[in-house]
Amino acid sequence: MIVLKNPNELREVVQGWKHDGAEIGFAPTMGFLHKGHGALFSRSASENDRTVVSIFVNPAQFNDPEDYSKYPISTEKDLELCKAVGVDLVYLPDRDSVYPGGIPSIELRIPRLMRNLDAKTRPGHFEGVLLVLSRFFHAVEADRAYFGKKDYQQYLIVKEFVRMLGFPMEIIGVETVRDPEGLALSSRNARLSNSEKEEALLLSRALRLGERLIQKGETDPEAVRAILSDVLDSSTSLKTDYLEVLNADSLEELQVLKGEVLLAVAAFVGQVRLIDNITVRIS
Ligand code: PAF
Repeated sequence: MIVLKNPNELREVVQGWKHDGAEIGFAPTMGFLHKGHGALFSRSASENDRTVVSIFVNPAQFNDPEDYSKYPISTEKDLELCKAVGVDLVYLPDRDSVYPGGIPSIELRIPRLMRNLDAKTRPGHFEGVLLVLSRFFHAVEADRAYFGKKDYQQYLIVKEFVRMLGFPMEIIGVETVRDPEGLALSSRNARLSNSEKEEALLLSRALRLGERLIQKGETDPEAVRAILSDVLDSSTSLKTDYLEVLNADSLEELQVLKGEVLLAVAAFVGQVRLIDNITVRIS
């Protein structure tokens, strides 16, 4: 496995592979890798000749400087995981090589998909994500890029961004990986105490109850929101950031639930902000 810090060296290696006819898969990450990332890498390794992973904690996407400064880093362990699942190249750039001359002042927005959920409660977040991904997509020139559906809104926005700007690559969404109790794997889980982890389980529990209600025939979004809210409010130490029941393609609100429906929640457990979601198909 090759590890590179320099974007020119990255381009050179990838161009060499492409010249030899290899198809390239790319999974961008912010490190502190877990099995959820492992699922992206394995999927890429199974669908491409070469897999590139980037590890970069992107300052442009943090609207809270404390969240950025506390973001966990574990490069040695990350490299071991990458190697174990067949990654060919890890790109580990520093801030100056990603943003020479500083973070540019440009607003990359897809208004239609950036009105609610994280776009609303974390202003500027997705603009920062699209900025860093534009730079990485130009450098890696992958055939396919892999994103976890735990960040469902990010997945939809990136897919649409790539379509609108004509990047010649496919965006692939990979299902959320959960621990045996249902907690969606996230790098942020490492910051939870044992009792906070119990509280964090309420997110997936709420989603499952909402899903069950829909499967039993409920079509009123307010009734589903109410059940999510009851579960999350059952803990006084958990602070809900948002809970939404939306059309899973357009992220629009629905009067009556039909088609593919997204149930999405975000909550603070202590100082840690967690998100989770599920989609339910109504036939
Ligand atoms: O999902 C993430 O970890 C980040 O938003 C990403 C896609 C690596 C961009 O920094």
